[in-house]
Amino acid sequence: MWIRILGSAAGGSSPQWNCACPQCRAVRSGSRPSVARSQSSIAVSADREQWFLLNASPDIQSQIESFPALHPDDGTVIRFQSVLLTDAELDHTIGLLLMREGLGLEVHATESVHETLTTGTGILRTLEAYCPVTWRPVVHGTEVALGEKLFYSAFDVPTEKRMRFPGAASSGRVVGYRITDSTSRRSLVYLPCVQQLSPEILEQLADCSVLLIDGTCWRDDEMPSLGLANKTSREMGHVPIDGPGGSLELLSPLPIDRKIYIHINNTNPILLDDSPERQHLDRQGMEVGVDGLELEI
Ligand code: MLT
Ligand code: MN
Ligand code: ZN
Repeated sequence: MWIRILGSAAGGSSPQWNCACPQCRAVRSGSRPSVARSQSSIAVSADREQWFLLNASPDIQSQIESFPALHPDDGTVIRFQSVLLTDAELDHTIGLLLMREGLGLEVHATESVHETLTTGTGILRTLEAYCPVTWRPVVHGTEVALGEKLFYSAFDVPTEKRMRFPGAASSGRVVGYRITDSTSRRSLVYLPCVQQLSPEILEQLADCSVLLIDGTCWRDDEMPSLGLANKTSREMGHVPIDGPGGSLELLSPLPIDRKIYIHINNTNPILLDDSPERQHLDRQGMEVGVDGLELEI
């Protein structure tokens, strides 16, 4: 299985249009080592011919153009028609609207996510006015084929984040995906949103080969301490990296070949290659995702 990180930043990208935090300034000026990152999405494939997208970011056009394997072949072959959604956040779903020129799209989403995208943000209702959309309900624990060589199972990721669009069921607001290559039996776990790494979630990560994990904030109080928001990382639905119960403490001991942070917010100091936080991660065997990173498992 091939995995391509299309976008490694959280909502807003790095740099973010309205931000002048140290990371955003460094990316713009080049004063410290840090590269620009687009919003959170990956693509997977068993053969580099047929691809599956996980989340559809607002940056999808440039993400596709920068990856020739996703380009259409003579205008006849479309490289992907399916998108698997982990949640209904805008950074993971606005890209659906940018795929409206296609002949149709298959969207894998839980009932709760589907409801939010239909009656809340309205993204799916708008998309359906432009092209046929086939909804594939995501049900926890069932195995679903992705082409002939891959399959996935989704697992529930409980969250207490405030709902911006009430009405949808609270269960199934966020899922993680385990994608397995049926030949090698090796798996990827994709988890860009997780509020708490509970024993149940950690069990889902056991024996995967690659883990792409929520790296939104370094500290729980990162946004309030910069005066950029009054919510903590956990209140926004994202476990912080540092501190007790943080992802570093819980994940660094796990025997997973590659543990890579994705969905990294522009305020996170790990975006600076020379920051002490980044060097600490390196020593703990955790990696920091970057756009265009490709893995084969
Ligand atoms: C999130 O991941 O918490 C959201 O994408 C934040 C947002 O609304 O941009
Ligand atoms: Mn997000
Ligand atoms: Zn910033």
